[in-house]
Amino acid sequence: MKRLWNYFLERIWARRQIERFYLVFGGHIFFETLRTAVRLGLFDCLESEPKITRQQLAQRLGLAEQPVRILLLGLTASGLIRKRGTGYRNTRVARMLLTAQSPLSVRSYIELQHRLIYRGVYWLLDSVRNSSNCGLKELSGNEPTLYQRLAHHPDLEGVFQQAMQELSNHANRELAEHLDLKSVHHLVDVGGGDATNAIALAKRWPHLQVSVFDSPSVSLIAEQNVRQQGFEAQVKITPGDCFGDPFPSSADALLFCHFFTIWGEQRDRQLLAKCYASLPKGGRVIIFNMMQRNDERGPLSAAIGSPYFLSIATGAGMLYTWKEYQQWMREAGFARTETLRLPRDHGVIIGIK
Ligand SMILES: C[S@@+](CC[C@H](N)C(=O)[O-])C[C@H]1O[C@@H](n2cnc3c(N)ncnc32)[C@H](O)[C@@H]1O
Repeated sequence: MKRLWNYFLERIWARRQIERFYLVFGGHIFFETLRTAVRLGLFDCLESEPKITRQQLAQRLGLAEQPVRILLLGLTASGLIRKRGTGYRNTRVARMLLTAQSPLSVRSYIELQHRLIYRGVYWLLDSVRNSSNCGLKELSGNEPTLYQRLAHHPDLEGVFQQAMQELSNHANRELAEHLDLKSVHHLVDVGGGDATNAIALAKRWPHLQVSVFDSPSVSLIAEQNVRQQGFEAQVKITPGDCFGDPFPSSADALLFCHFFTIWGEQRDRQLLAKCYASLPKGGRVIIFNMMQRNDERGPLSAAIGSPYFLSIATGAGMLYTWKEYQQWMREAGFARTETLRLPRDHGVIIGIK
């Protein structure tokens, strides 16, 4: 009896392991199935007509039934949608992340994965062997980082900034809500992108002056965004390179959102030393991004994010652990560090001079 029980347990366990393996093995196929369904508006269709049949769905989308059947099989087997009888419906995750109306939609990020990250990660083997971003050859240009090359590809830069805006829109709610900036007068958002974060912080803290410090081409997008939202008095745009140029003057806080993950340890440490030298006593450096667990076992989001930095972005960065940032801050001279855990594997580490 015990042997029989063990046999069944083992079979269930092996089946689970193999199913998980298939998700990894076919990751590119499941991803393209997902992206195709998003682009076709399939999840929106399921949302407006729950229990819709395959034939009806094909009709609504104006597509032949066989390709729709293939998509539905992929989405059902991977657990994004459910099939009961002949009817299909979204899971909660699909509703939250994949429908156009959801404020938590990641549709722009999916497009960025398809248009850019996917192409870069194709070169991961070469990137690992050479410890450099071999996937950057996918974009014409001579510059060493993705961010510099994007300036010659306005279409892709738009896709990139839209995905960043989506990510910021989700994450900055938490940031604006939990980050206490009562005593800060002038905050510089270094690598602040299209100013989405800066505007959110300016709204939350009306006394605060915010400067967005990013490359000239991105600064043009930021300027337009700030103008459109009527924040010109509170949010200033200063184009520049944070490694080569001084930070905008008189800042008492330097914020880095999704920025320290881009670079290797040496550059990050140099940047922290520069922050320490530029800030007044009591000033803060604030790092906000997804974090790797200190035990280096996850989360999945950190594991997914890291190969992008190696294979295409810079050839150097990754999602570091909490304790690495804290140690670098202390070594740069910051007297004290504080941490804040936020949803979706995000976190904030503050170094106080
Ligand atoms: C991953 S995005 C993050 C954007 C924004 N902080 C956010 O959280 O959505 C990185 C940003 O850093 C900018 N950047 C890269 N290298 C830079 C540098 N050397 N100086 C200033 N900005 C830089 C890029 O143009 C891009 O907007």
